[in-house]
Amino acid sequence: MEFPFDINQLFPERISVLDHTLEAGGKFAGRPDLQACCATVIDELGKASARAQQLPAPVTSASKMKSQRHQLYLLKDGESNGGRGVVTGFLKIGYKKLFLLDLQSVHVEAEPLCVLDFYIVESLQRHGYGLEVFDFMLQDKNLDPVLMAYDRPSPKLLSFLANHYHLTENVPQVNNFVVFKSFFLNRSGNI
Ligand code: ACO
Repeated sequence: MEFPFDINQLFPERISVLDHTLEAGGKFAGRPDLQACCATVIDELGKASARAQQLPAPVTSASKMKSQRHQLYLLKDGESNGGRGVVTGFLKIGYKKLFLLDLQSVHVEAEPLCVLDFYIVESLQRHGYGLEVFDFMLQDKNLDPVLMAYDRPSPKLLSFLANHYHLTENVPQVNNFVVFKSFFLNRSGNI
């Protein structure tokens, strides 16, 4: 995804971690122009993700990021677009308090880290970029993906999780979240 400004100036790292400040390490302080560019990138990614999932409205936007304690991992390719860089995709995560049905269909309360939105630019899907950003997040959080919950996962995400992390046995829920069997086995006594 190309933008009419320098992506490498905004996001020096291959993967940037953004929070409610929308700042990669506080470097936009006193630079409203850079903050506005960053907001444009997040808004455009959110819209593209919603289109790809046929959602009625984006679940990711700059204004939502500012008001929610979520983290967004943004992946770029710094060499494309004449050296100005392009954005390849993003992964958004956050903690949610959930009422889940366990293996005995008993309601339990948990507050797992959840995958809330995930998108790789169409022409670059199935090239390993999703895995790159997801693995980066898992290392950053030092987390096993089976301990996460997945908000309304698309068929592509379910295939991705089965393929890369062998997550196949999900436990039916009454909400939009998907968790896998070992979520409960690995957390017994903790939730
Ligand atoms: N059809 C079926 N499975 C797919 C597809 C597809 N078109 N694209 C990716 N996958 C799955 C497959 O398991 C694939 O492995 P395979 O090619 O051997 O079959 C695997 O993902 C490929 O892994 P990566 O290349 O690392 O994944 P990618 O870079 O494509 O990123 C992602 C995965 C983010 C799901 C991407 O396909 C995408 O943006 N899809 C559209 C948006 C979407 O559905 N996002 C998830 C929303 S749900 C949520 O966020 C909670």
